[in-house]
Amino acid sequence: MNRVDGRLKVTGAAQYAVEFPQKNIAHAVVIQSAIARGRITNIDTSTAEKSPGVLAIITHLNAPKVLQTAGKNTTSGDSAVESGGNPFTKPVAVLKDATIDFYGQHIGVVIAETLEQAQYAAGLVKVTYAQETPTIVLEKNLNLAYKPEKLLIPLEPDSGRGDINRGLTEAEVQIDETYLTPVEHHNPMESSGTIAAWEGNRLTLYDATQNVNGVQETLANTLRIPKENVQVISHFLGGGFGCKFPVRGHIVLAAIASQKVQRPVKLVLTRPQMFTSVGCRPHSLQRIRLGAKRDGKLTAVGHEITTQTSISKEFIEHIGAATNMIYNSPNVLVTHRAVPLNMVAPTFMRAPGETPGMYALESAMDELAYKLNLDPVELRIINDPPQDPEKNLPWSSRSLVQCLREGAKRFGWEKRNPKPRSMRDGRYLVGYGVASATYPTIRQPASARVQVTSDGRALVQIAASDIGTGTYTILTQVAAEALGVAPERVRVEIGDTQLPPSPGSGGSWGAASFGSAVYEACMAARAKVLSLVQTDTRSALKGLKDEDVEVRDGRIFSKQDVSRGQTYQEILTQNNLKQVSAQVESKPDEAAQKYSMHAFGAQFAEVRVDPLGMVRVSRCLGIFGAGRILNPKTARSQMMGGIVWGIGQALHEETHMDERYGQFVNRNLGEYHVPVNADIPDIEVLFVDEKDPHVNPLGVKGVGEIGIVGAGAAVANAVYHATGKRVRDLPITPDKLL
Ligand code: MOS
Repeated sequence: MNRVDGRLKVTGAAQYAVEFPQKNIAHAVVIQSAIARGRITNIDTSTAEKSPGVLAIITHLNAPKVLQTAGKNTTSGDSAVESGGNPFTKPVAVLKDATIDFYGQHIGVVIAETLEQAQYAAGLVKVTYAQETPTIVLEKNLNLAYKPEKLLIPLEPDSGRGDINRGLTEAEVQIDETYLTPVEHHNPMESSGTIAAWEGNRLTLYDATQNVNGVQETLANTLRIPKENVQVISHFLGGGFGCKFPVRGHIVLAAIASQKVQRPVKLVLTRPQMFTSVGCRPHSLQRIRLGAKRDGKLTAVGHEITTQTSISKEFIEHIGAATNMIYNSPNVLVTHRAVPLNMVAPTFMRAPGETPGMYALESAMDELAYKLNLDPVELRIINDPPQDPEKNLPWSSRSLVQCLREGAKRFGWEKRNPKPRSMRDGRYLVGYGVASATYPTIRQPASARVQVTSDGRALVQIAASDIGTGTYTILTQVAAEALGVAPERVRVEIGDTQLPPSPGSGGSWGAASFGSAVYEACMAARAKVLSLVQTDTRSALKGLKDEDVEVRDGRIFSKQDVSRGQTYQEILTQNNLKQVSAQVESKPDEAAQKYSMHAFGAQFAEVRVDPLGMVRVSRCLGIFGAGRILNPKTARSQMMGGIVWGIGQALHEETHMDERYGQFVNRNLGEYHVPVNADIPDIEVLFVDEKDPHVNPLGVKGVGEIGIVGAGAAVANAVYHATGKRVRDLPITPDKLL
């Protein structure tokens, strides 16, 4: 099925957050700090206030008093998500006081009649600071590394099993290497932005958010107003990748700006402002130690992680998330340490944890395979655990071995000469690389409402949001199937806090969480319709129970006798009903405690490296076991996108820091390199047929993030195979290969 919102998007009819027309709108521009640490000693707004069109300027000196009460640990102006995906609803700290914790911190907002007038006036605001020496460089401040109290997922900062030292002693072959990943930025095509509009004490926010309910609660708590007085609308998003999940300060700035000028206010972050306003993937140093017997069986896996957090707000990326469960070693040690820096607080970025973590682990596995003289595909198969070795629970399903075997066959892995630097194509060195992928299957509690109407149509409502992944489409499919009506007769409404509450779109849990809720609401609605005629002597369905019937073509009928049935239209009309609706609160069942649930995959890459160290990816193949695939088109698109991200991770993406000032240098799409079409080869995406009865009623595992996991490692491993040179510091740029 094609995307149901495809036509709206390609014709420009889809309304994104800052495209909702408002009467008498004013424009807001944020003012950012030009130092990384210290205090504001003075803000002179007098010239700016006299500038044409300026309506108001808000700084910490005249901000609503309520903003001063935001607690510790939120001072960078954002909130986060705790394990389970619920937003921290703590007040967002912005314009709290004169303290500066990082370069680019929001220190004020200018509101004017036009965007240009606001931009011009923002440049006239004179800020003086008392500067202190910022802490900028992770490597130079390792003495500040601390062990966090907890992570954002159900994993202890230090975890593992057995005894790593014993495991290393028992090993016949060892690897001990450190891998580096840089700061990266999400860069969705649509930058973050909000329209805030007050009507009396009621606030409406059209916000580019992945999480309407999270924005609603957090704003209510920040501004100390009832949740019911805040409505958040987010019908379409131009990507998010995690930077639009937590609530950041600019949303609060838009709200207080609108309150101040008593008009709707639009605030959009510019591309450079995005780099210091909505978080990033943190820089990481990852020491990996592996021990194995000659036959390839792992005896030890050590993954010691040091990453950056922010001085003002703790965010620790759970980089070791997959290390405990992916392979079958009796001895495992995973540790997380963080160094607080004067830098914008990092945040979730597509497959947070697994993306940098599996790059390092899968690179080390590749190094181990060469040392053992074993095929890297076989090494992974040898260490495939029969059950989750961390939780000691059976897998709900695990198709990693199948993915590796089928992927290798489809990719032509047997054509690979195992010797590094042995394959050539003219002037190019050719290399093949492989890596495993995994991502947890998460289902969050969610509510949904479904209405069946007397014209035989259905309306599906759930807060949710569609980051561009295809949520509208798959929810249409789920409802159409569960109700037995044509997809054209289903209308899906999402992205609004007026609809039944749900978690936001993140953690690859959308299909599992929203889909399950919609499915259950449809089943409840269908049962309600059937109950109207179960005792009706006129009805062909009389006496039939829920389990006795099937639905198709808008009709409920007996499983035994297809001719015994009635359409929704007939039943509702006979009962003089315009509509029947059902609302459910859907929750994970106990299977979540009895099984370990993850999606798995195998990534293959072929590279061509020219004599100057220029790497071109010439082929990629990703094969995944992700449960039931609701829509092969949108799922394939997610996997392709993930693999493109993996290529970017391996070869292009890196945010450079000016160590003197703590400012990001390449804060635009001209100099922050992401792959473009010319960098992307044919990408083959395959799904293994995986039926998982345990994960959720739909059997889906989620496809938003696993596509990136391992993709970077597969490229990096291919570069080693091509060149014989191991670069352990991403991205692999030509200078590092020469
Ligand atoms: Mo995703 S990083 O959970 O938006």
